[in-house]
Amino acid sequence: MRLIKIFDTTLRDGEQSPGASMNVEEKLQVARQLVKLGVDVIEAGFPIASVGDFEAVRKIANEVKGATIAGLCRTRFADIDRAAEALKSAESGRIHTFIATSDIHLQYKLKMSREDVLEAAVNAVKRAKQYTDDVEFSAEDATRSDPDFLAKITEEVIKAGATTVNIPDTVGYTVPQEFEELIRLLMNRVPNVDKAVISVHCHNDLGLSVANSLAAIIGGAGQVECTINGIGERAGNASIEEIVMALKTRPKFFNVDTRIKTQEIYKTSRLVSKITGIVVQPNKAIVGANAFAHEAGIHQDGFLKERSTYEIMQPEDVGIPQSKLVLGKHSGRHAFKMRLQDLGYELDEAELNRAFDKFKHLADQKKCIFDEDIETLVSEEVAKIPEVYTLEGLSISSGMGVTPTATVKLSVNDQIHEKTEHGDGPVDAVYRAIVSLTGTKSNLLKFDVKGITGGTDALGEVVVQIEESGRTVRGAGADTDIIVAAARAYINALNKIAIRKMK
Ligand code: KIV
Ligand code: ZN
Repeated sequence: MRLIKIFDTTLRDGEQSPGASMNVEEKLQVARQLVKLGVDVIEAGFPIASVGDFEAVRKIANEVKGATIAGLCRTRFADIDRAAEALKSAESGRIHTFIATSDIHLQYKLKMSREDVLEAAVNAVKRAKQYTDDVEFSAEDATRSDPDFLAKITEEVIKAGATTVNIPDTVGYTVPQEFEELIRLLMNRVPNVDKAVISVHCHNDLGLSVANSLAAIIGGAGQVECTINGIGERAGNASIEEIVMALKTRPKFFNVDTRIKTQEIYKTSRLVSKITGIVVQPNKAIVGANAFAHEAGIHQDGFLKERSTYEIMQPEDVGIPQSKLVLGKHSGRHAFKMRLQDLGYELDEAELNRAFDKFKHLADQKKCIFDEDIETLVSEEVAKIPEVYTLEGLSISSGMGVTPTATVKLSVNDQIHEKTEHGDGPVDAVYRAIVSLTGTKSNLLKFDVKGITGGTDALGEVVVQIEESGRTVRGAGADTDIIVAAARAYINALNKIAIRKMK
């Protein structure tokens, strides 16, 4: 079976989703999980774009081993040198350079001729080659480019040393049959194509990104670029989980394989959703809440008689736990630790103790603890940031005909302070009290709330986005009490801002 390389761009193109920016620590967390998932390449950012992006790529290159780390750059030498600097300590680093090749981009955006673009591409690859053997070239807007010019530039960049040539459908314009033919044309027409891997990178503007990526694989592509949950610029990128599970579910049709450990898919999806604040739609293929839920009576009957009547994949294949009910308040530390290991979490002693305390607290309030509850507890623990503000107490009074009032007790640099405020609703009252206690000048940009598991005793998760002095951060909090979750999320975001100020 041909091995298809999975190039993950969640941290670069995925981060270009409106509102999805991640800080360095969050990117590191995602990168580590991507290694567990088994991706071949992690595109960690665009180093020249900002100091934050440079730092993220540098840190990931330094600390994350087990996958090739790529940094994106235009064809300008300054971009390439900056990417090389960021990737310097990678175990395996890739410089990914791009320039547009379609006439529409050449005429209106670049104001360059085809000859100029060809020269810039070749020179960029040669420059990158001075730093690493592993150089990828992308022909931006390839699917709206003249195929003859695309074949020519592919041949020339391979001659210059490119080891991967990427054919992006930048604006999500192509359709599967056309794209398969384009890839086949390059495979047949470019004389030195065997010296490089042909890659594809599809956007989802017409909802065809996964279909187009699969068609390209049939046409001969050896690498697909994709993101977790399909996040990315505009309508997003092709979703890694959908591509990988299509290949795995239809092996005879595709006759290819990947290195992805599919059991890590669900966990990775949850992590990215939590960190970016981008909620996965319930009917999303593979990782949506309803992806393995059978509702209709006829379906349930068939499923109970023989699973395969209505299930083409099993939830366990993507790491969705089959048995939902796991632990309760009588469970001990050992059982909790074992369950964590089953779910793929390795916590150090201190993290385990803190997570177990939270678990016990939750078990007192909630009869059934589901795997999703445990994952929420643990991901909070693993992603823990130092705290300037700690929520020590919260009480509210609200209801019909009652002015919502909240009293919040906060420890600020280890000193306890308390404040009571009124508001338009209980969350508003709590947030006003927190504003008084912390003196924050931040603006609340986004407030999302969702239930992690079913039932009125479910853990509720709140994700907020706040902005202060041009900096935007996200905060998350979970609790069986949604008002407490809201307070935790806000305080988590304020802690991130406070920590940044201290640096
Ligand atoms: O969509 C695109 O063309 C890109 C390139 C930079 C690879 O993201
Ligand atoms: Zn893209």
